Amino acid sequence: MSNPPKPLLDLTAVVMQFGALRAVDVAAMSIAIGERRAVIGPNGAGKTTLFNTITGVLRPTSGRIAFDGHDITRQLPHRRAKLGIARTFQITNLFPTLSVMDNMKLALRGLKPRKFSMFGDGALTAEERSIAEHALGMTRLGERQSAIVRDMSYGEQRQLELAMALSSTPRLLLFDEPAAGLSPAERTIVAEIVRSLPRDITVVLIEHDMDLALGLVDYVTCMYEGRVLVEASPAEIRSNATVQDVYLGKARHHA
Ligand SMILES: Nc1ncnc2c1ncn2[C@@H]1O[C@H](COP(=O)(O)OP(=O)(O)O)[C@@H](O)[C@H]1O
Ligand SMILES: [Mg+2]
Repeated sequence: MSNPPKPLLDLTAVVMQFGALRAVDVAAMSIAIGERRAVIGPNGAGKTTLFNTITGVLRPTSGRIAFDGHDITRQLPHRRAKLGIARTFQITNLFPTLSVMDNMKLALRGLKPRKFSMFGDGALTAEERSIAEHALGMTRLGERQSAIVRDMSYGEQRQLELAMALSSTPRLLLFDEPAAGLSPAERTIVAEIVRSLPRDITVVLIEHDMDLALGLVDYVTCMYEGRVLVEASPAEIRSNATVQDVYLGKARHHA
């Protein structure tokens, strides 16, 4: 391979300013097609805000974001979702009284539960069912289609969120702390799910658990005070003194 891998996501001089605070100030960041990347850094480093500028929840104060060679900086979130950018959230956003499959139906049809009774009642088409079953299989929920969400463990609920994100057949999947609040056994399942995702899905993962994150990715971006502090391989990150100072030092502080 003589050519460098083609970037799927390319950020140039992206700044997100909240009043006097520069929450994000990323000079350059490039993610290759098929890459697994971790974004780490202490609380408040700007990781979630960075995700928000990529999904379009926030429009950056300045800078340029390109996806697959197209400038998406000014596109609305639903347009970016159509292009193949999907995310999961730190907080659960499932509909607890509905079944796994009905939650999948809502995700596939982009509906809120309020409108479910009006528009969501129709049976799944064969194509919708096939997409939903594939996504549930990838997240180890193939046997749980008729389970009611509120009866499921927290870990299974997080797995369902992943399945819902996968139901849009994304090209770029952004995970914001997928293992937060999970037991060690549940973390292992999430790690296995991420590891087994097909390589045509590019994955960017914010994760507070360094051991988990570094075991899953090809490359790591460490953020601090909005900036990219270090970009390196997991092995280099482990032994990097600057990362240990700002990340581990602060992490201990917040523990
Ligand atoms: N909507 C907002 N308005 C004002 N400040 C915000 C907003 N969102 C995040 N921030 C601030 O930006 C900084 C980065 O936050 P965040 O991206 O959530 O960090 P991380 O995800 O790395 O913990 C923090 O100081 C946070 O308080
Ligand atoms: Mg965050």
